[in-house]
Amino acid sequence: MSHLPGSVVPVAKLRAMFGCASCGQHLAQWAGRCPGCGEWGTVEEARAPRSGGSGASGAAALQVAPLHGGQGEGEGRVLTGLPGVDRVLGGGIVPGSVVLLAGEPGIGKSTLLLHALASLAASGRRTLLASGEESRAQVAARARRLGVTGDGIAFTSGRELDAVLEVTRAERPFVLAVDSIQTLRDPGATQMPGGVSQVRMCADALVGLAKTEGITVVLTGHVTKDGDLAGPRALEHAVDVVLSFDGDPRSGLRILAGGKNRFGAEGETAWFEMGASGLAEIDPSDLLVSGERVPGAAVALPRSGRRALAVEVQALVGSPEGPARRQATGLDLRRFQLVAAVLDRAVGLPLGRAELFGAASGGVRVDDPACDLAVAAALASAVTGAVPPPGAAFVGEVSLTGLVRPAAAMAQRLQAARAAGCGVVFAPEGPPTGAEGVLVRPVRHVRDALAWALPPATKRPESLPA
Ligand code: TYD
Ligand code: MG
Repeated sequence: MSHLPGSVVPVAKLRAMFGCASCGQHLAQWAGRCPGCGEWGTVEEARAPRSGGSGASGAAALQVAPLHGGQGEGEGRVLTGLPGVDRVLGGGIVPGSVVLLAGEPGIGKSTLLLHALASLAASGRRTLLASGEESRAQVAARARRLGVTGDGIAFTSGRELDAVLEVTRAERPFVLAVDSIQTLRDPGATQMPGGVSQVRMCADALVGLAKTEGITVVLTGHVTKDGDLAGPRALEHAVDVVLSFDGDPRSGLRILAGGKNRFGAEGETAWFEMGASGLAEIDPSDLLVSGERVPGAAVALPRSGRRALAVEVQALVGSPEGPARRQATGLDLRRFQLVAAVLDRAVGLPLGRAELFGAASGGVRVDDPACDLAVAAALASAVTGAVPPPGAAFVGEVSLTGLVRPAAAMAQRLQAARAAGCGVVFAPEGPPTGAEGVLVRPVRHVRDALAWALPPATKRPESLPA
């Protein structure tokens, strides 16, 4: 049997489906306990898909259409006009896609959204903002602060799902922005807005809208301090693109990073500064390095998307005699512990019983293993009081034996070093990368990169004045 274009399948022939409201697993039959996540009482019957606003029921039919041809096809990506946002999206918006902008409350999601909508509107695209977080007057006041007119941005309350769907179908904007998915309510779900099944049902309906009408949907979602989307992890599976907005809420620095992306490369980043008139994109290349030579600091060159950055990592020895606690902010705690253990065992620095703290500057998160050698340098500097040579940066993953493994993307890392004014990079030997003005000091073992911190076997005599 084959499905010819235009043939229909009656809905009544399809079996009922069930789904877990907690983890999103689909089930063929009801169960008291979800086999996916083990939660009790979370399996519920999935509702029939919305009928596209026609109000038809029962006799609704599934449409089959040829793959090629039809509405929306062939329209390429659309630029938001904010270069960093376009880069992180993989080259602009794919029309009809669903994008989730996730971040902690207060980090600047609504602000970034308004910048993007204003820029799209200025290029002649119809935009609709459904806000359940702020009133029209509040959004208008924010637009004035950002120095945008707000012309071309239609506003509607984003509290009732059905109203948002109806207004969107009537307005037919290029993009519908929902701020936030947690304040939207589907009367079909009994929970309070923000609950797992509410968020899932609202997201499903909006994904359906995007896919049937070809309207791009951008959702904002609050995440908790641990980086978990409050409640709805399953939301990440439903959308096409996940962007995370991060930063140290105390500083103005913000990082937009591409996570999951069905249409492009992941891991691209854009950096912004939050100022009195909103977010401005910045070049972070030398922002995260103080240039001060103080004990306990060393420069790392982590990858950030397709480029690399210079970031200062810091270490502090609390009490040398313990408790042997380790705490890391912005660094991978397990790698921090491993590097400390290697320095203790393979290099002989007395860190085994010490209380240790580590951090990355500027509220950034550094989880590239090639930052190990810089963490080693910061720890060695903290425990000995010696400082790394002027203009030094460190690259390489440290193994359990103390050997340093080469890192990918050395050319980008050396470029980042040069941009931050680092002229010497301690790194495992590899093919020449031809970064002018940067000298690579080859290391095999972590010890080779720490000669400045270790007691000299024989001190070289000072040269006498002529
Ligand atoms: P907001 O976009 O409301 O964050 P979210 O939507 O992620 O909760 O941004 C909130 C913070 O940003 C708030 O503390 C005020 C600050 N802010 C500025 O510093 N300058 C500005 O121009 C704007 C609009 C906000
Ligand atoms: Mg907001």
